[in-house]
Amino acid sequence: MTIDLAPFKNLIKQRCGLILEGLGEEKLATVLAQRLIVTKFGNSAEYYFHLQGNSDEFQELINLLTINETYFFREVEQLHLLTERLVPRLLMQREDNQPLRILSAGCSSGEEPFSLVMALREKYGDDVSSLFSFVGGDIDTLALAKARSGCYNEFSFRGVATEIKARYFDYDGWAYRLKDEIRNRVEFQEMNLFAEEFPAALHGCDIIFFRNVSIYFDTPTRRIIQQNLASLLKENGYLVIGTAETIANDLGVLPLVEEDGLFYFSKGQPSAFVPATAPVFDFSRYVVSKVDVPGQCDMAEHPFVRCSPPVVAPSLPIAEHVASVAASSDPCFSIDEVQQYCREKRYEEAMALIVILLEQNPGDASSLLLKAHIQLNRKEFELAEASARQALQADPWSIDAFVLLGLAAKWRDLVKEAVRWFKQAVYARHECWLARYYLADLYRAGGESDKARREYRGVLQLLSQTTVPDHGIKVLPLAVVHSELRFLCEHQIGKLGDQQRIARRK
Ligand SMILES: C[S@@+](CC[C@H](N)C(=O)[O-])C[C@H]1O[C@@H](n2cnc3c(N)ncnc32)[C@H](O)[C@@H]1O
Repeated sequence: MTIDLAPFKNLIKQRCGLILEGLGEEKLATVLAQRLIVTKFGNSAEYYFHLQGNSDEFQELINLLTINETYFFREVEQLHLLTERLVPRLLMQREDNQPLRILSAGCSSGEEPFSLVMALREKYGDDVSSLFSFVGGDIDTLALAKARSGCYNEFSFRGVATEIKARYFDYDGWAYRLKDEIRNRVEFQEMNLFAEEFPAALHGCDIIFFRNVSIYFDTPTRRIIQQNLASLLKENGYLVIGTAETIANDLGVLPLVEEDGLFYFSKGQPSAFVPATAPVFDFSRYVVSKVDVPGQCDMAEHPFVRCSPPVVAPSLPIAEHVASVAASSDPCFSIDEVQQYCREKRYEEAMALIVILLEQNPGDASSLLLKAHIQLNRKEFELAEASARQALQADPWSIDAFVLLGLAAKWRDLVKEAVRWFKQAVYARHECWLARYYLADLYRAGGESDKARREYRGVLQLLSQTTVPDHGIKVLPLAVVHSELRFLCEHQIGKLGDQQRIARRK
């Protein structure tokens, strides 16, 4: 049975602002087919009529349609901005002794608001309960129920440092349970960002985190939502939007500010610069990098060490450049420019250009690969995987895509899958020494010493040639220093040899 999706799409857009196109549309068709069976309506017209007047059924549908992808300490550099810049400044300015109110708007299953609590708990210790109050709001009532339970599986962590997990969670053999001292700090609240009115608990916020939500709305809807969020902010409050989305949300509602290489919106004029206060939030303590080849994936290094006063963004040439490219009817820039931004780890700018390129040509493999590269660096593994797979549709022999898929699997400890992708890269191009290096690492970690040694030797042999053979990676901005990789291979071969000798002696 084919369902006419148009009335459903309109109703959802009208009530919640959500745009369902492409994959969203496919999901809608699947979800509607499910609901027709469950509710036993004979046809979609009858179901539509019922849906219009029944808020419980509408909620069921929305719960099935939302995308709740989230994890702890996502975009950790923005948490650094929170603890080292925004919060100290607001605490200094506050005239009453009221706690600062922090809202995570579109909080999904709670990983974001709980990360805010943990980051501030690390900095302010027990005072966190008197200094701050936290609210998490979302339209998805099932996600909110999960948030209230405070129970998570491995998937919500993705690289969170072991000490942090141990400090704030209890593992019961099935799930990680957030300790009550953190769980009880956040009040969860149903919230439709597109609503005309908001519950009292959401008003009077000092800081709002609104990350990875705006991508589901079109520009006019984003503007309305941003106006709504601005109305929930106190004067001089801050709105933090996901780094890749900020420029697309610079809609003239609130002034955009740049500080330490990061962007946020400020209600009122950006206030005086407050230097970082000790103890400094060291985000390398919160997330760990599993990647050890220099230059390939660089999450452990963060460029946000500059101490500069806040800058209202229009004075920034790069932001201006990207904004003007976005506004132009005939954007003129090349993929090299995007690669250059990636090399400089200016992912926000790179992503803004990629969005434009993909709007013009949705199947463009190079843009998709660079998108996957950025997503991987942001630990958005499923998204990275999806982008790399899309790139494979355009170029089924893309070595870049095989390597990206291998890395996305490796970082999630999906060892067999990672091996399969790296092997695929080597099958497609024997000289792909980077894929062989990763294969060697995976074999070594899995105790397959002979295979590991063979691959490390293969990499050494390729890298020792007078002209190092082309590895076949065409788009990814690699910065691997051959001598360093050779050193790593020699070092690992040496270690494997020592282990073998010790084993023989025993
Ligand atoms: C991808 S998650 C983002 C979670 C978290 N902010 C993060 O960055 O990890 C997007 C969330 O936005 C919520 N959402 C979508 N439309 C909404 C609306 N109109 N009002 C409130 N929440 C909405 C979804 O239910 C989903 O949980």
